[in-house]
Amino acid sequence: MNNINEMILEAQNYIESKLKEKPEIGLILGSGLGVLGDRAEKRNIIDYVGIPNFPISTVEGHMGRFVFGEISGRKVAIMQGRFHFYEGYGMKEVVFPIWVMRSLGIKKLIVTNASGGVNINFSPGDLMLITDHINFMGTNPLIGPNIYSMGVRFPDMSNAYSSRMKDLIIKISNELNIPIKLGVYASMTGPAYETPAEIKMLRILGADAVGMSTVPEVIAANHAGMEVVGISCITNMAAGVLDKPLSHEEVIKTAEEVKDKFLRLLVEIIKYF
Ligand code: HPA
Repeated sequence: MNNINEMILEAQNYIESKLKEKPEIGLILGSGLGVLGDRAEKRNIIDYVGIPNFPISTVEGHMGRFVFGEISGRKVAIMQGRFHFYEGYGMKEVVFPIWVMRSLGIKKLIVTNASGGVNINFSPGDLMLITDHINFMGTNPLIGPNIYSMGVRFPDMSNAYSSRMKDLIIKISNELNIPIKLGVYASMTGPAYETPAEIKMLRILGADAVGMSTVPEVIAANHAGMEVVGISCITNMAAGVLDKPLSHEEVIKTAEEVKDKFLRLLVEIIKYF
């Protein structure tokens, strides 16, 4: 395997050879939200398969491509499909696209995901602005030799989710009449959903939502000096909250129902990010 800097550069060069303009905002869209990419103007689609050193996404409900284009007049790079640790990718593969986006000049990142509601005051269909996270994946994408071209060895994580954007997003959500909760996102590896005892533990430890993504990308993005906004769609109540089993079908169904309000909110956030 090549040196990671060379791998990033190869991917960057390939993408740049196909772009006329530099993107400024990166978006990683979770389950069911990929359609935002289809709404971008001046679309320029680049499939992951063609990008040197890029992993390939496999999970149902996810595509595997970048849509470069414009939303709300801003130049965006939208990832339709992300790489999950539970699929068997290494952490470096999960965050490789972050490094490539940063190399393309992107310094602002919006991440979305589907998650289970740990906070019993939440309901399926709620949107939650992520104010902080707890990494329960038992590993970290920055383990190994530090990539100094991206950032320092021991990056600060005390403002991992932009506090600058928080008040603005609350204001936007009020104006659009799209309520948004605030909370802490805990990441587990999956792919099994959590047990009721694990969810009880997460609640005691301060989590409001639980999911199987986002945290690796946000760690890598912060390391690389990017400003991050994270929004979670509560697609189901986490294990043990309700007396019913969890299913991927429920996750997809709720994400689909919430899609329109989620997209309206995102379009507005992009405008002011
Ligand atoms: N747990 C973990 N990941 C999830 C969940 C959940 O309940 N819902 C959607 N993604």
